Amino acid sequence: MFDILFVVIFGLSGRVLTKDTDTKGRFSSPVLDVTEKELIIERNQTLQLNCRGRWELHWILPSGVPKVYHGTQIEETRCGRKNNQYCSRLTLSPALAQHTGSYRCRYRQKQRKQASVYVYITDSQQPFVKMQSENPDVVYMKKGEPLVFPCRVTNPDAKVSFVKFPFHRLAPDYRNIIWNSRHGFTIRSPTLMDNGLYSCETTVNGVKYSNKFLTHRPVTKILDVYLNSTGLVHTLQGQMLALNCTVTAEWNARVSISWTYPQKANGSATIIRRISRSQANMLFYSVLTIPKLSKADRGLYKCHVTSGPSKRETNTTVIVYDQPFIRLKHRDGSVVQASAGQKSFRLTPKLRAFPEPEVIWLKDGMAAAERCSRYHVDGFSLVIRDVAKEDAGIYTILTGIQQYGLYENLTITLVVNVKPQIGEKTVSSQQTRTVQRGSRQALHCTSHGVPPPQIQWLWHPCPPKGLS
Ligand SMILES: *[C@@H]1O[C@H](CO)[C@@H](O)[C@H](O)[C@H]1NC(C)=O
Ligand SMILES: *[C@@H]1O[C@H](CO)[C@@H](O)[C@H](O)[C@H]1NC(C)=O
Ligand SMILES: *[C@@H]1O[C@H](CO)[C@@H](O)[C@H](O)[C@H]1NC(C)=O
Ligand SMILES: *[C@@H]1O[C@H](CO)[C@@H](O)[C@H](O)[C@H]1NC(C)=O
Ligand SMILES: *[C@@H]1O[C@H](CO)[C@@H](O)[C@H](O)[C@H]1NC(C)=O
Ligand SMILES: *[C@@H]1O[C@H](CO)[C@@H](O)[C@H](O)[C@H]1NC(C)=O
Repeated sequence: MFDILFVVIFGLSGRVLTKDTDTKGRFSSPVLDVTEKELIIERNQTLQLNCRGRWELHWILPSGVPKVYHGTQIEETRCGRKNNQYCSRLTLSPALAQHTGSYRCRYRQKQRKQASVYVYITDSQQPFVKMQSENPDVVYMKKGEPLVFPCRVTNPDAKVSFVKFPFHRLAPDYRNIIWNSRHGFTIRSPTLMDNGLYSCETTVNGVKYSNKFLTHRPVTKILDVYLNSTGLVHTLQGQMLALNCTVTAEWNARVSISWTYPQKANGSATIIRRISRSQANMLFYSVLTIPKLSKADRGLYKCHVTSGPSKRETNTTVIVYDQPFIRLKHRDGSVVQASAGQKSFRLTPKLRAFPEPEVIWLKDGMAAAERCSRYHVDGFSLVIRDVAKEDAGIYTILTGIQQYGLYENLTITLVVNVKPQIGEKTVSSQQTRTVQRGSRQALHCTSHGVPPPQIQWLWHPCPPKGLS
C-alpha cells in the first residue's frame, strides 16, 4: 500500500505494468497501475492514475469532479514494446474531498470492459463528500426498493451516526440498516413508517458535521374511479343534475380531477371537491352540479383523473327530456297467441317513458297478479307461467306517472291455442262391433280444441278374414 501510495501521490512511475507481453487475450479489459480496490489520499495532494490497454481509453470520473476542471489532466500516449498499446495518465491536482469516488478507465468503444479504483480524499473539514446547503436532500421512496441516504464520506474510517428526527438514533444492524462509507446508509426494506427527516452525523476535532435527507414518496397510484351513475342518466329539462366522481388512491397521493361536459365553455356547472382519508386509502370526491338543466346540457360527461403519470377516466351520458312522457304501443298487434302447456309466456308492449311510470296489469278488468298465482309482473311485462286454456282473455296494462298526471293504457287480447282432443278416445271403445248388414249406423266423434278443430273421416277396409 505504501509503495502504491508513494507511486500514486508523486507520480514517479507509470511503469507499474512491467510485463509487456502482447499475447492475445491480455488487456481484454484495460488495466490500472494500482492493484488495490481503494486508495486514500489527503486533500491538496495529487492523484495520478495510469491505465493501459489494447484500444483507445476513456476515463469516467466521480460526479464530484467538475467536467471542466483546471486540475484535471489526461495524457494519452502509445506505449508497449511495439507501440501498439494505448496508455492514459490521469492527474488530478489538487485533489479535493468532493472528488472522492470511483475512478474508472474503460475502452472508448467497448464500454463494459473497465478497471476501477475507489479513491478517498480525506479532509478533516469535509467529512462528507457532498457539502450540503441548508436544505435537506430529497430521497425518493419507491415501493419494494431500498432507501439509500447517500452520505458518502471522505475517510473510510469515519464514525457516522444515523438519526431520524426528532431524536431517534438508528444503529446499523447490517440486515435492514446498512452503513457503507461509499454509499451512505441504506434501509433495505423501508415501510411507510420510515418516511421522515434523517441526518447522517459525524464529529471531527470537536466539530459536528451532518448531511440531512428528507424522504419523499411520490404516490401516483389510482386504485379506483367511480362515477355514481354510469351508462345513461335520464333527466328532465329544468331539473338538477349531480354527478359524483369518487377516486380512491393510495395514501399520500395527490390527485387531480377534472370534468369535460357539453356546456363546459359556458361554465354552467359548479364543481365541489372534497378529500377524505380512510385507514388505508385516500378518497377524493368531485361533485359536478348543474342546478337547472337545459337541452344543451345533454351529452357525454367525463371525469378525468390524473396522479403523476397515472391517468384514468370514466363517463356517463346524460339525456335531457323536454317534458315527462309515456309512449305505449303494441309490439306484435293487439291479439297475441300462446299455447296451452307452454312453460311461460310474456306480454310485453312497447313502453318508453320518463320518469319511470307505475305499471299495473289487469286481466278481464281485475288485477292480474291477484287473479292467479301463475302471473307475475317483471319490469313492465306480465309473465304467465304454465300457460293454460283459461289464461285466454283481455289484458290491460295501465301506466301512470302520478306526479305529472300522465296515464296511458293498452289492451291486449291473448288467445290460448289448445291441441285438438278426441273425446271417444278416452272412453276406449276400440272393440270390433258386429252390425247387421244394411242397417243404419251412426259413428260419433267428439273433439275439442282452440281454435275449434276440423274433423275429417277416413275409412280403412277391413283386413282379410283369418288374419286378425
Ligand atoms: C490545501 O490548500 C489550501 C489552499 O491551497 C489550504 O488553504 C488548505 O489548508 C490546504 N489543506 C490541507 C489539508 O493541506
Ligand atoms: C359521493 O359518493 C361517495 C360514495 O359513493 C359518498 O361517500 C360521498 O358522500 C358522495 N359525495 C357527496 C358530496 O355527496
Ligand atoms: C350522485 O351523487 C350526487 C352527489 O352525492 C347525488 O346528488 C346524486 O343523486 C347521485 N346520483 C345518482 C344517480 O345516484
Ligand atoms: C352556452 O353557449 C352557447 C354558445 O356559446 C350559447 O348558444 C348558449 O345559449 C349558452 N348557454 C347558456 C346556458 O348560457
Ligand atoms: C365511456 O366509458 C366506457 C367504459 O366505462 C368506455 O368503454 C367508453 O369508451 C367511454 N366513452 C368515451 C367516449 O370515452
Ligand atoms: C284507458 O285509457 C282511456 C283513455 O286513454 C280511458 O278512457 C280509460 O278509462 C282507461 N282505462 C282504464 C281502465 O284506466
